[in-house]
Amino acid sequence: MAIDRNSHPEASVVDAVIRSRRAVRCFRPDPVSRQVIEEILDVAKFAPSNSNIQPWHVYVLAGEEKAALSELLGRAHVEDRHPPLRHLPDPLPEAMRLRQEAFGAVYYGALGVPKCDARQRAKVTGKNVDFFGAPVGLIFAIDPTLTKFSWLDYGLFLQTVMIAARAVGLATCPQVSFVRYQDIIAEHLHFPPGFEVVCGMSLGFPGEESVLNRLDMTREPVGNFSSFLGFDS
Ligand SMILES: Cc1cc2nc3c(=O)[nH]c(=O)nc-3n(C[C@H](O)[C@H](O)[C@H](O)COP(=O)(O)O)c2cc1C
Repeated sequence: MAIDRNSHPEASVVDAVIRSRRAVRCFRPDPVSRQVIEEILDVAKFAPSNSNIQPWHVYVLAGEEKAALSELLGRAHVEDRHPPLRHLPDPLPEAMRLRQEAFGAVYYGALGVPKCDARQRAKVTGKNVDFFGAPVGLIFAIDPTLTKFSWLDYGLFLQTVMIAARAVGLATCPQVSFVRYQDIIAEHLHFPPGFEVVCGMSLGFPGEESVLNRLDMTREPVGNFSSFLGFDS
């Protein structure tokens, strides 16, 4: 049965919010209140999870608490004693490798940092642990006895957080980079024994002027990532 999108005004709102979400890496210093974050999480909690186990726990940091963690991690980043984070397999499947390369070209290209300049690249990467200057930093933790299916739940939760934030004019950047500093974060935030960092996230009002917030991250057309079976047309 055909669906008339015009008779579903909420569709255009939902689509617009989803389509306009970007990974934002430059923020205005304006604070975001605890109440606003609580409202966002209060929406995000409706993300589905296998058997409704809700495997998420989020540490919400602002002010001195955020600064203290960023300082610790900033020091660790400069000392460079932690093994590099291998968050993607090497080699990546070819099509994905090409997309990763394109991402690097757009991102570091916008900053004028050449591929061969490891020092400058490390400086850019280091901004992650400062939550890109955002007023709020989120650290998402998980009980590592859970399986990959709960990590799937977690991904749904993270996207719901980002969409709920976007809907009230806030911007976010999900950040796997924090995982490199698992040990420091777990100790500093007093994680329950064994808990792991899933990722971090910067949250705040976007710095409109930054070229970093206007990166053109293209997407594959639907036909390239879907196979329709059993449809008449
Ligand atoms: C799980 C996850 C981890 C990410 N980790 C980082 C990160 O550590 N640092 C960063 O700058 N961007 C990070 N990103 C943002 C991606 O680079 C970004 O989502 C991607 O390039 C697509 O761009 P868009 O989100 O603006 O559409 C991460 C995204 C996801 C989903």
